[in-house]
Amino acid sequence: EKGGYEHFMIKEIYEQPKAVRETMTGRVEKDNSGVEFEELKWIKEDVTAIKKIAIVACGTAYHAGIVGKYLIENLARIPVEVDVASEFRYRSPLIDDQTLTIVISQSGETLDTLAALKEAKKLGSRVLAVTNVVGSSIAREADQVIYTWAGPEIAVASTKAYTTQLIIMAMLAIYMGSLKGKLPPARVRELCQELRELPNHIYELLEDVEPIKTFAQQYGFNEDVFFLGRSLDYAVALEGALKLKEISYIHAEAYAAGELKHGTLALIIEGVPVIALATQKDVYEKMLSNIKEVKARDAVVIGIGLKGDNQIEKYVDHTIYIPATDKFLTPILSVIPLQLLAYYAAVTRGCDVDKPRNLAKSVTVE
Ligand code: M6R
Repeated sequence: EKGGYEHFMIKEIYEQPKAVRETMTGRVEKDNSGVEFEELKWIKEDVTAIKKIAIVACGTAYHAGIVGKYLIENLARIPVEVDVASEFRYRSPLIDDQTLTIVISQSGETLDTLAALKEAKKLGSRVLAVTNVVGSSIAREADQVIYTWAGPEIAVASTKAYTTQLIIMAMLAIYMGSLKGKLPPARVRELCQELRELPNHIYELLEDVEPIKTFAQQYGFNEDVFFLGRSLDYAVALEGALKLKEISYIHAEAYAAGELKHGTLALIIEGVPVIALATQKDVYEKMLSNIKEVKARDAVVIGIGLKGDNQIEKYVDHTIYIPATDKFLTPILSVIPLQLLAYYAAVTRGCDVDKPRNLAKSVTVE
């Protein structure tokens, strides 16, 4: 059932090119002219009526929501709030019939997310669910459903569900942006072309895992690891840190790199591993300064940069390059080495990769 792989997690990591491709099938138009969601069939007025979007989810799905916020706000120009479901429910959220609530859940059974969905409906909001499980409780309760077509995800640590959720977020942002008239057709075409290239790019990243395996073996016994990034890279840093904590039990923290000097820099001392993501051009120089800051404290830095970037390796100890794509789509690629790092760190430490201690695949209790 593991198809020759040692664990479900690594099998599912390798299934990502296929999962991502299937999630786009029939949605990204064949001629790259746009995105269509048969299950929504929205018209312009459906989108212009949305004054605000509230994204609600837990864990990894919440991290997909943070990326979703960037994408929807940038490409469709609709304000988006993102909450973890267990907080949303209890903060008396300001949502109404002009709000679209998007709940994201791989399993479709997470109790907090389901309760948040019900709360949103009670307040008059239309609810769109993004889930991987057909007929799940969340799919049944929502007004509309978009399925990720990732196939069953067995490992507790979510991988292919996350990347397919990101694909949905990107397609939804393009869909809403074009319906609203906020995205010129040429930009839509460019984004669709880049979307289509993603499975090949992921495949390419999965072909060369040896350096990551080596880093994981080298740093697998450190007590703390820091993940730094700005803008979309920060969202990915959050996911990288969660993955590492969850399966390898290494304490990991994700930091918006600009926040370093407001406290965290005190923890950066000689030999502390820092994973620094620097894929976003508009904050690239700022990120390099942050890298220099941690290097000056003798941290060991693994940089995640874009192929073609010939600067980053001058400042870090090791570099992992990801294929260049549209800046809004880079999270779908930059998360891959972080998933692999977590996986190999857990293997090195002899952890139960697929069933980490104290965790369940679907959390149906509060
Ligand atoms: O099934 P869901 O997407 O609602 O699950 C949400 C979280 O419990 C889940 O993403 C959790 O954080 C994963 N184990 C992370 O790898």
